[in-house]
Amino acid sequence: MTSINWELLHNEAKEIMLKAYAPYSKFPVGVAALVSDGRIVTGCNVENASYGLGLCAECGLVSNLIASGGGRLIAAVCVDSNGNFLSPCGRCRQLLFEHGGNDCLFMTPDGPTPMSTLLPWAFGPDDLEEHKK
Ligand code: THU
Repeated sequence: MTSINWELLHNEAKEIMLKAYAPYSKFPVGVAALVSDGRIVTGCNVENASYGLGLCAECGLVSNLIASGGGRLIAAVCVDSNGNFLSPCGRCRQLLFEHGGNDCLFMTPDGPTPMSTLLPWAFGPDDLEEHKK
């Protein structure tokens, strides 16, 4: 089991947050996650003049996860511009669930919390398999 260095994840999230492109909301977000093979992947939000097309930080993280070789997400830290722990939005919980499942941990103000708490009874790949039976 890869041990979780929460401080490192927090620092990586704060660092990538500084690269966010958020001229419209002025709400930069950074996220960093530990992958099952020990590497760390990160993402920042990237907004668009067509507001609804903005990409959350977690979208970038998932894209970087897959582009850098895939694997499972073990633990993640998402931060706002002050470096405070940020709650991933609903859509991003779904995105992250796909690649981390119920056991992926998120740092919250109450400490590490599993995805099963953030997104109970999540719809996911297993539900599609069930349908095929
Ligand atoms: N945002 C994220 O990047 N991730 C979240 O989980 C919450 C919201 C971004 C989207 C938008 O660029 C800005 O924060 C304000 O909503």
